[in-house]
Amino acid sequence: MAISPIASPVQLVFDTNILVDALTARGHYYEYAVQVLEWVQRGEVEGWYAPHTLTTVYYLVEKTLGMQAQTRAQASQAAQAVIKRVVGLLKPLPQVGNEFLEMEGQPGDDLEDLLLVELASQYLPNPVIVTRDKGMLIADRAWEAAHPKEMVERGLAPWLSRQKGKPIEFIDLRSQQRAIWPQLQTNLQKVLHHSQYILGPEVRELESRLAAYVGVEHCVTVASGTEALLISLMALGIGPGDEVITTPFTFVATAEVIVLVGATPVFVDIESDTCNLDVRLIEAKITAKTKAILPVSLYGQPADMDEIDTIAARRGLPVIEDAAQSFGADYKGRKSCNLSTIGCTSFFPSKPLGCYGDGGAIFTHDDDIAQACREIRVHGQSRRYVHTRIGVGGRMDTLQCAIVQAKLERFDWEIQRRLEIGARYNQVLDEAGIPRVQQRPDRTSVFAQYTVFVADREGVQAKLKAAGIPTAVHYPAPLNEQPAYRHLCCPDCTPVASEVAKQVLSLPMSADLRLLQQQTIIQTLSGVRGEG
Ligand SMILES: Cc1ncc(COP(=O)(O)O)c(C=O)c1O
Repeated sequence: MAISPIASPVQLVFDTNILVDALTARGHYYEYAVQVLEWVQRGEVEGWYAPHTLTTVYYLVEKTLGMQAQTRAQASQAAQAVIKRVVGLLKPLPQVGNEFLEMEGQPGDDLEDLLLVELASQYLPNPVIVTRDKGMLIADRAWEAAHPKEMVERGLAPWLSRQKGKPIEFIDLRSQQRAIWPQLQTNLQKVLHHSQYILGPEVRELESRLAAYVGVEHCVTVASGTEALLISLMALGIGPGDEVITTPFTFVATAEVIVLVGATPVFVDIESDTCNLDVRLIEAKITAKTKAILPVSLYGQPADMDEIDTIAARRGLPVIEDAAQSFGADYKGRKSCNLSTIGCTSFFPSKPLGCYGDGGAIFTHDDDIAQACREIRVHGQSRRYVHTRIGVGGRMDTLQCAIVQAKLERFDWEIQRRLEIGARYNQVLDEAGIPRVQQRPDRTSVFAQYTVFVADREGVQAKLKAAGIPTAVHYPAPLNEQPAYRHLCCPDCTPVASEVAKQVLSLPMSADLRLLQQQTIIQTLSGVRGEG
């Protein structure tokens, strides 16, 4: 995207009202507006404008000058001349057109102002909006704004040292919260009002919405992603003496639950490019004790579920997809969580669909499994105080369900953004020759993590941290190298997972990651790797 080079530490972005004041000598503050523009003229700071505001500027300037001019033509000519002179000092903010869809407005906000803020925060590192607009000057908004009178009285220096900028967060949940705030408030107030905190109406409502979204018969919400896996294994009757085939390259919960029910995880190695289970290695690990296959759709990309289902069907085994990271991903026209006997996901706050605490869900087409899961999550209860099986206290609470419902309002947009941001990372990193986790063409990843491979991981991480770019490692060691799991599997029998674990590095990723932030991340990573 073409954008003028940015040279000064802060960038003053002129709002419509300030341009009109300066151009027409209007109101009490025009002299301040003129003085701020003079800083720009003298090259002390950069000034920017948003092209979409110019028609309003022109309209207002022509109207004001029209009162003094003899004819309309003269007024229009004069307006154009003064606008050109002032706008000539300023740099234009770019606009691709769809920023409008990304705006995070609140009731009563002015659309023209919102778009100005959106463009400034998308494309400039440290914008300060110069405005008289009270709505934009409110202190607790995400952007920096200043009245020209205040700026002139304090001088330019404090603004130059301000450099608030938006820090790059590993996952930006704040912007998301701002965007869904009204819906969030409404939903939470509703729960507080009816006070059915356990299994209230929002629980069933969310389950119906999620089942429809995924395209399965049943959704059972539970207390976490871990609980979803545990309850699924219990519902399938898996226990002591049984084996479950899974990947060692995952969050510990995947294998933990297998051990908790008394069974043994049997680790199968992964593909070096997608980091998902290598299906070619599964059959050799199936024994008479094998009772299920538990693949993980890592980093947000479904594993080779059709191939896994085919192997499982041949051996009469159920398949549980650990889709904690892949909710919202597509696989050959179907959704993750609708790809096997059972799909389990997590609503941990950082997941693609997260709540504000712990939560999770189980998905299945099977009526009996769904009924078993519903009973197990409430202490194995089939009717009040009738415990027909061993269960757990595993419900997702009503408030968390209400929060996920608010997040669903924006979820399709977020998935689209994740796909775009992921594609942009892919393209630029490929051009820069930086190796990354690959995606298969017949499925999408929702990029719960965006992960690259680097040789000197600690060094790269430290340099990125020094440049203000947070990173994380998912995961530093395969589970069969972890102290509690080592005895369950030879530590060196998954060599690909061992090697990959030394190199993976996850970069900042969320639906609200800004284009400029992403460019900074990629440029810094390229530079850091280049330093060797
Ligand atoms: C692959 C995988 N499985 C299971 C879980 C467990 O989910 P939760 O944290 O909601 O218990 C996670 C979450 O981190 C995960 O990434």
